[in-house]
Amino acid sequence: MADTYEMTFNVGSRDFSSAGDASRTIKRTLKQLGVDSSIIRRIAIASYEAEMNIAIHSLGGKIDLLIDGDRIFVETEDYGPGIENVDLAMTEGWSTAGHEIREMGFGAGMGLPNMKKCADEFYIESEVPTGTKIKMIFNI
Ligand SMILES: Nc1ncnc2c1ncn2[C@@H]1O[C@H](COP(=O)(O)OP(=O)(O)OP(=O)(O)O)[C@@H](O)[C@H]1O
Ligand SMILES: [Mg+2]
Repeated sequence: MADTYEMTFNVGSRDFSSAGDASRTIKRTLKQLGVDSSIIRRIAIASYEAEMNIAIHSLGGKIDLLIDGDRIFVETEDYGPGIENVDLAMTEGWSTAGHEIREMGFGAGMGLPNMKKCADEFYIESEVPTGTKIKMIFNI
């Protein structure tokens, strides 16, 4: 596997025709690089949840994939509106998703807790109205 590898994906707000593309590309890339399938599964789930949160809850943002030696980093950054209470947002079942989003099958309030479960290290930083940053580290 290459020693270092980096890719950036832009994620549009409420752009449901392309939401999911970034995490699908991440999954395919890691497969091509020969990463262990159980690790790919965790990264695919975590990056999909992160991508959908940017698409659903934010004004748009980006996802960075960085492979560096024996660690894979998935880092996200969005352009607001930020999360008022991060502890609450991390609680299983807590969601601000409205009716329309729930009809699309989202809004169980499980995305952030699942990201944390999937990653070996999980960091979230959010400021209102600046935006939210998430850093996830996976050991290969
Ligand atoms: N990038 C973000 N920007 C602003 N708010 C966010 C962001 N990500 C999450 N949130 C807030 O945190 C809440 C919990 O997020 P989480 O991903 O756990 O659940 P959900 O997106 O509501 O539902 P699910 O992920 O299960 O479909 C969201 O409802 C939203 O209020
Ligand atoms: Mg979510």
